[in-house]
Amino acid sequence: LKHFLTIDGLGGEILTEILDRAEGFAGVARQAVKKVPLCRGKIIANLFFENSTRTRTTFELAAKRLSADVLNLNISTSSTAKGETLLDTLRNLEAMHVDMFVVRHGDSGAAHFFAEHAAPHVSVVNAGDGRHSHPTQGMLDMFTIRRHKGDFGALTVAIVGDILHSRVARSQILALTALGAGEVRVIGPRTLIPTRVEELGVRVFHSLREGVRDADVVIMLRLQRERMDGALLPSEREYFQLYGLTERLLETAKPDAIVLHPGPINRGVEMDSQVADGPRSVILEQVSNGIAVRMAVMSLCLGTQSQRAQGDEDG
Ligand code: CP
Repeated sequence: LKHFLTIDGLGGEILTEILDRAEGFAGVARQAVKKVPLCRGKIIANLFFENSTRTRTTFELAAKRLSADVLNLNISTSSTAKGETLLDTLRNLEAMHVDMFVVRHGDSGAAHFFAEHAAPHVSVVNAGDGRHSHPTQGMLDMFTIRRHKGDFGALTVAIVGDILHSRVARSQILALTALGAGEVRVIGPRTLIPTRVEELGVRVFHSLREGVRDADVVIMLRLQRERMDGALLPSEREYFQLYGLTERLLETAKPDAIVLHPGPINRGVEMDSQVADGPRSVILEQVSNGIAVRMAVMSLCLGTQSQRAQGDEDG
């Protein structure tokens, strides 16, 4: 694994390897063990062209736990604001001997662009590109689900809300399918469900009550208003009445069902605060797990890089 750009095309075996590796890092992630030297001497640059709270900070913490040096480029005060192109930004940072770029961008395909144009020794990790993919979020969600539920094969997973604009939903669906989840459901209004989504192996529901019935895992998604281009939408109040998760509705899921949300949450729109802060919510665990999972992905990519360099030297 040189780059980590999407879950598309990755099999269950490599995804399980990432989850197992993350499990091994869990103690380091929560600082029970201080640091590991796996990426000592490596430089990791965080390039966030879009806002982020959880992803950027957990990538930074993960890199530091791996003993890497971290650059956080503040895009709003960088020379991209003076018109410098993505390619020139990339070349200039490469001149500082960066080994890995972690890229978040509003345009689908931005991380792939970096990977195509980066020097051969440089790795790229996608931290979310447009509506396309958010693969480390998908993996930290799988990690959280596996920790609570074990094997994926017996699970019914309900993903609720704005599936159409959600890069997280796409990554979750691909990961759940590759890991052999029993049943994956998507639930939302017709305007927010992509056409032909069934081709990804999911069942579509437009009733929240029907969709969460007997689910083991309920994943709520944010309405991605910034990507909607004026699409016809119910008001937030109407949306909550139809698709907002309440404690009462959650009673139709399995008694031990867990509730996830990638964040940021719009309380009173996607879900009630009683659910977000309630006993079934694992939302803050998802955030913590992001550190171990990102350590796993970065160390795998940079390890592959070191093995390649060693191979080049040997060859
Ligand atoms: N889940 C997620 O991507 O959150 P941030 O936008 O805060 O990084």
